[in-house]
Amino acid sequence: MSSDHNKSSSYLGLHLDGKAFRKACGTFATGIAVAAVIGRDGKPHGLTINSFTSVSLDPPLVLLCIGHKAASHGPFSSATTFSINILSDAQSDLSTRFASSHPNRFEGVDWFEGELGSPVLGGSLAVMKCEMRERVEAGDHTIFIGLVRRAEVNDGAPLVYFSGSYRELK
Ligand SMILES: Cc1cc2nc3c(=O)[nH]c(=O)nc-3n(C[C@H](O)[C@H](O)[C@H](O)COP(=O)(O)O)c2cc1C
Repeated sequence: MSSDHNKSSSYLGLHLDGKAFRKACGTFATGIAVAAVIGRDGKPHGLTINSFTSVSLDPPLVLLCIGHKAASHGPFSSATTFSINILSDAQSDLSTRFASSHPNRFEGVDWFEGELGSPVLGGSLAVMKCEMRERVEAGDHTIFIGLVRRAEVNDGAPLVYFSGSYRELK
């Protein structure tokens, strides 16, 4: 973790300890997904996220947030479709891989291009294939909002993230 993460932030006179903010956010247990696109270079790009959330049922909208500094930010900014691959408890290795600086994260991974033209990871607990609808700038992240065109669910249990560690639902 870089020292950037620990510094206090001052916004409109509010002084907030960055470490406390991150710790508090970490108590909100989430699932984990790999969000992915095919870039303009024709290659798959993806990253581990836990900022996924459903937004609306009608129309079916979801969102994810990507930091401006992430290498995937550029490919997501120009993409017209993306996928959300919700990871199962057997896929913690994929979560680690897609959060790492691996030069080709998709190398040797079981994936294929879904019908909307974005990467689908084999063995995911659920997959949502989305059309990009809106991009909203928010601080040092961009919120990407997508319309879900296809949703598939497989049997299994989710990978859970809490306080910086992977957990299993008991
Ligand atoms: C459990 C977990 C959840 C994460 N969630 C997000 C997220 O929601 N948004 C984000 O921008 N980065 C998130 N990250 C960090 C990215 O996966 C990581 O920075 C990645 O290396 C960025 O990849 P890139 O620079 O190749 O795009 C998360 C990492 C982990 C381990």
